[in-house]
Amino acid sequence: MKKRILTGITTTGTPHIGNYLGAIKPALKLAEDFDESFYFLADYHAIIKNSNKSEVSESVKNVALAWLSSGLDPNKSFFYRQSDVPEILELSWILNCVTAKGLMNRSHAYKAATTVNKEDEDKGITMGLFSYPVLMAADILMFNATHVPVGADQIQHIEMTRDIAGRFNHLYKKTFVLPEALIQSKDETVPGLDGQKMSKSYGNIIPLLSSEKQLKKSVAKIVTNSLEPGEPKDSSNCTVFSLYKHFATQQMVEEFQEDYKKGISWGDAKNKLFDCINLEMIPIREKYNELYSDNDFINDLLSDGSKKVRVIAQEMISSIRSSIGINKIS
Ligand code: ADP
Ligand code: TRP
Repeated sequence: MKKRILTGITTTGTPHIGNYLGAIKPALKLAEDFDESFYFLADYHAIIKNSNKSEVSESVKNVALAWLSSGLDPNKSFFYRQSDVPEILELSWILNCVTAKGLMNRSHAYKAATTVNKEDEDKGITMGLFSYPVLMAADILMFNATHVPVGADQIQHIEMTRDIAGRFNHLYKKTFVLPEALIQSKDETVPGLDGQKMSKSYGNIIPLLSSEKQLKKSVAKIVTNSLEPGEPKDSSNCTVFSLYKHFATQQMVEEFQEDYKKGISWGDAKNKLFDCINLEMIPIREKYNELYSDNDFINDLLSDGSKKVRVIAQEMISSIRSSIGINKIS
């Protein structure tokens, strides 16, 4: 059996260095150990939370650029837009019909949305939000991915995918591989400007695709304490230091720790952090600038990607249709 990894990023908001370090970079690295890799833009997931059409459409371009600028090679991996593969939505419906409502009731995302409601617990909750894990299962099962790299918050969705796949295999015939999650560790969580987890929901991001000047401005905004230059500083529990660790070598980290003990000023510490992030960003920025104005190139590339994966998806869906009795009258 081929070892296949598959992962997607929801196209809402601007990709940030948390997405890059926690999702994009490790997923691209993993491709080296697998027979095939699938990376996609989860744009039908985006409309669950965002009904602003220009935000969704702008984010599709930015997330595509984030993958491509970070080194995704479309000749070695499958790279596509979820919405260009309509068979995924067809599979999603079929899976809806074998998924227990009780399983979805237990979804963390759905439960979190109901607990903030007081009188009517389902206020503002759409069927899209409720059945979102089924769409995610369809993304994964369509290509029989064996491994799915995701953040810890997504573990439940992979477990649900396994449940749904098992149920289908049992009801009809063994069709789906039960995928395994490849979880990013907790220590790899990247802090944002205010020290909380970097997230577009907290407004504390350092954008991945920014100019040198913008990057410098973002780094300057990192919240620190008010210790003066010359006063020794504690590197544990320090956002500047934790971000530095994500980009620097072990030796650089040790030297930085010494600088803290010797009382480096926050200005100097931030300059060192900036240099270190910037070094990694230079090739990413170059690629981004090269591709940014070439919408045709990006559209053609995504369209080629979807053509390739649709061959697999169409074969899969036709076999599934026949398994469930949606076939020619004979
Ligand atoms: P956000 O929290 O900004 O909405 P998403 O939930 O869209 O980000 O995350 C997309 C991917 O990036 C996921 O795989 C997630 O685990 C990863 N990711 C997001 N924020 C971070 C972070 N601060 N540190 C590490 N990984 C992150
Ligand atoms: N739900 C994932 C997230 O919010 C994105 C996603 C959608 C995904 N479909 C997927 C990830 C399939 C892995 C596999 O991060």
